[in-house]
Amino acid sequence: MIPHARPSIAEEDVERVAAVVRSGQLAQGPEVAALERELAARLRVEAAAVVASGSAALELALRALDVGGGHEVLIPTYVCDALHHAVVRCGAAPVLVDADPATLSLSAKDAEARLTPRTRAVIVPHAFGLAIDLAPFVALGVPVIEDCAQALGAEVDGRPAGGAGALAVCSFYATKLIAAGEGGAVVGPAALVRRVRETRDYDERQTLAPRTNAKLTDMQAALARSQLARLDAFVARRRAIAACYRARLGRAACRLPPDAGRRHVYHRFVVGLERDPAQIEAMLGARGIAARRPVFRPGHRALGLAGYDEAERLWSTALSIPCYPALTDGEVDRVADGLLAALGA
Ligand SMILES: Cc1ncc(COP(=O)(O)O)c(C=O)c1O
Repeated sequence: MIPHARPSIAEEDVERVAAVVRSGQLAQGPEVAALERELAARLRVEAAAVVASGSAALELALRALDVGGGHEVLIPTYVCDALHHAVVRCGAAPVLVDADPATLSLSAKDAEARLTPRTRAVIVPHAFGLAIDLAPFVALGVPVIEDCAQALGAEVDGRPAGGAGALAVCSFYATKLIAAGEGGAVVGPAALVRRVRETRDYDERQTLAPRTNAKLTDMQAALARSQLARLDAFVARRRAIAACYRARLGRAACRLPPDAGRRHVYHRFVVGLERDPAQIEAMLGARGIAARRPVFRPGHRALGLAGYDEAERLWSTALSIPCYPALTDGEVDRVADGLLAALGA
């Protein structure tokens, strides 16, 4: 079976983690501090606070921006549920925004239509690895949290994605651009990042202001650092695989992701189909290839809300095929052959 995602783990990753385990310094310590410095330098931001997951990063970023009870936060409906949960954990209300079919993120126009006096922030994912222009979202007049969970390494006009909003979040989940099993980060201006550091830990503080334990271990940070050192190679391989799919699938009955140069890191290679993705997924599965809907289920479906036509269309046509550095050239060919056969069937 060719899995839908698989991390690229090298012997150097194993050695770096083993060294931390042998040292006995397992919990948050010097590896986390070094990862924070390296991530901030890589993303060209003032500071980074490393936390336990992308979900924790979203929650702590919202809290650092003083989002809480009585506030609304604009989020896409066509995205994983992590955003919804993070907003709710802060005591705020998520307001779902329809999709932009060009970017697969949220529509700036629909976001504007859903603004109210209670809107306190907007979360903008660079969906599936495509870094988008933040200007139309900044123009909404509320703080923008850039969600870079799927877009580490992408660039917009020569600058790394993640530096254009009020704050940005990353994820180091096992399938992401760099994998630490779990993990995440909030990056941005030092004063806000300090607030995230304050709330990710509860121990030995004078006050009982809301805090949690959202720390990353030094074992995970060592793995994340080792992976971050290879991010450029990972992204180059993802782009090479995308170029191969583009060449093989150019004439097939499907829509390909935009050829967006350095903006796209192809966390997912999402194709638009003219038929039910479940059918193609099953046909690929029969050939030993795991494809997936890129979003399990849009938020509005879980909430029984109408008025999300673009997200509905995406959900009923989009399919993500395997695209990650650990794929061999032979596996890339097998996936392309399989999709061509399924589409021709
Ligand atoms: C766009 C986006 N944001 C946030 C998250 C949450 O990250 P984590 O799984 O590390 O909590 C994910 C995870 O899939 C994601 O895709």
